[in-house]
Amino acid sequence: MEDRKKMYPEEAADLLARERLSAKRYGHTLRVADTVEDLARIHGLDPDRARFAALLHDAAREMPAEEFLNLAHDWGLPVGEPERESPKLLHGPVAAELARRELGVEDGEVLDAIREHTTGRPGMGPLSLVLYVADKVEPARDYPSVGRLRRLAREDLRGAAAESLRRSIAHNEERRRPTHPASVEALAWLEEAEEGA
Ligand SMILES: [Fe+2]
Ligand SMILES: [Fe+2]
Repeated sequence: MEDRKKMYPEEAADLLARERLSAKRYGHTLRVADTVEDLARIHGLDPDRARFAALLHDAAREMPAEEFLNLAHDWGLPVGEPERESPKLLHGPVAAELARRELGVEDGEVLDAIREHTTGRPGMGPLSLVLYVADKVEPARDYPSVGRLRRLAREDLRGAAAESLRRSIAHNEERRRPTHPASVEALAWLEEAEEGA
């Protein structure tokens, strides 16, 4: 196998996603990469690092549930009640670990962005925020408030992340599904900052 750690990073990330994902989800990955690059530019963040994180964010998404749990166990990733109930919640943390192990990624903010993209996290950094939002507003996303969220994403990243978290919590409540505590805490953190502004 060629040494992917020596490849141009974007090329290696693209290859990892392409070989692990269906055409449909790889398409989503590329749309998130384009969206995050654009949003990163608007908000003064590094578009290349944002794109790189986006290419990897869903790389583990199509693993079977059992494999998430096995890998999480082998790699010592935290597994709580929500992850045991719904192992696909681990696709971010597992993808971050794949990036580290297979591509030698050491950029902590990139790894955090990949790790946190599903649930968010209180105190999440700008790269995490921009990827979280881009994932929710890429051009093929289609839900009633997406237009408003797309506009907000260009003006106010934190506001867009808060809005998106509120939406996902409400969605879970409608379906009587639990929300991951990290999402509830991330929203509280963003709202605290909104009030303080
Ligand atoms: Fe994802
Ligand atoms: Fe995604």
